Amino acid sequence: MKPATLNCTVLRDGHQSLAATRMSTEQMLEIAPILDTMGFSALETWGGASIDSGLRFLGEHPFDRLDTLKKLAPNTPHMMLLRGQNLVGYTHYADDVVEAFIKLSVKHGMNIFRIFDCLNDPENMRTSIRAAKEAGATAHGTICYTTSPVHNLEYFANLGRKIAEMGADGIVIKDMAGLIPPSETAALVEALKKSTNLPVWIHTHDTAGLGAGAYVAGINAGADAVDCSIAPFANGTGQPDCMRMLALLKGYDRCPVVADDFKDKLTKISEMLQPIYGSLSRFTSHKNEIVDSATLLYQVPGGMLSNFRNQLKELNIMDKFDEVMAEIPVVRKALGWIPLVTPTSQIVGSQAAFNVKFGRWKQITPQTMDVALGYYGHTPAPVDPELQAECAKRSGKEVITCRPADRIKPGMQDLRDKLAAKGLPVTDENCVIYAMFPQQLEDYYAGKKPEPPTNDNFGAPAALTTVGVSAAISGRNMKLNIMGREYDVVIEEK
Ligand code: CO
Repeated sequence: MKPATLNCTVLRDGHQSLAATRMSTEQMLEIAPILDTMGFSALETWGGASIDSGLRFLGEHPFDRLDTLKKLAPNTPHMMLLRGQNLVGYTHYADDVVEAFIKLSVKHGMNIFRIFDCLNDPENMRTSIRAAKEAGATAHGTICYTTSPVHNLEYFANLGRKIAEMGADGIVIKDMAGLIPPSETAALVEALKKSTNLPVWIHTHDTAGLGAGAYVAGINAGADAVDCSIAPFANGTGQPDCMRMLALLKGYDRCPVVADDFKDKLTKISEMLQPIYGSLSRFTSHKNEIVDSATLLYQVPGGMLSNFRNQLKELNIMDKFDEVMAEIPVVRKALGWIPLVTPTSQIVGSQAAFNVKFGRWKQITPQTMDVALGYYGHTPAPVDPELQAECAKRSGKEVITCRPADRIKPGMQDLRDKLAAKGLPVTDENCVIYAMFPQQLEDYYAGKKPEPPTNDNFGAPAALTTVGVSAAISGRNMKLNIMGREYDVVIEEK
């Protein structure tokens, strides 16, 4: 069996997890060419929150970053994280927008698409897997790891099989919360290899101190590649660092084979990253660098915990932290045991807080209703029928069972018209970005200065800062902001 390989996440998840996605393209310029010579199987350079954050906070056009990094690192495959039908936004987009986004990304240099869905509904990955293949790129079907009574080996192996049948070139185990124990990693790798016959890559976080151990077990069980980063944008809530991984894997048959100067280059990059890390200190948190076992206790992503503490403050229920944490599995169960990943972590988190604040299901957020009614796709287990009926009654919407995007009309022409009406350059690139981030793109062209850097947005120095939830209450009226959309909610008498 071939040795395993390393992917490098420092230009995306490394700083998304440890510095609120605030590394600028300029700060990457000197590092990218060195990374390109180190023999990584992939460089993660785009996707996830980096597109939203770069446009919103750094005033960068997303495609400019990709162009620049591709030019600086032309020899290593570039990789990005894509939320299936949600692309890099927070809702479902039309198939023609998804196809255009992927085609353009490939045109600008993207090679590997890591495609996942927040419910693990393969139907929501179908269009992006097909589009990536058609554009000549590699499509990696990505499985969100989570724990629940329905998420067992058989479930994951089945899901892998379905994704493989859609034409995926590989399978990625995505453990966004860093919860997967080494033994389970090994079992899952074996099960997926058996059910799909495809390469299996692993992406985890070292939040609870399990990440590096999970990689060792996964590689010994046959995993083909693992995601690592480079200190100081590594470890803690980020990926384990390459240096540590090589030391841990030393002596094993499938230890990655690296060039003689690999470690020297790692050391050099680490030194170059120190001042960059320092310049982003407003967004880095000491807490990120230590092992946080609380995530094991609560089984939720680390970023969600810090986000929560602030949300509870806004709702005036700081003293109810334990109660809210206990409510999370209740909400997950009622919603068919959905995983906790953007945007479902925010949806479940805010609903759990509301259940504690106002009484269970007294206030139901619009997103919770949409999940319950099928507008996000198929949940891993059935939604509680009583809750579903209640959501249908309150929202006046019907339950749907089709792929949500089947209900969305083609969008590209409409986007072109909108750009023209706003006097913005009408390019396909702008269309797909406008579909997701209209206000930010307008601000970009208006030359509006990005908002001053702060880590006070919901107090989370993590990716959640761009997609948080906040609520302001006055009397019986509440202004709710979920992922940038405002809702007026009238609080019912209990
Ligand atoms: Co990640």
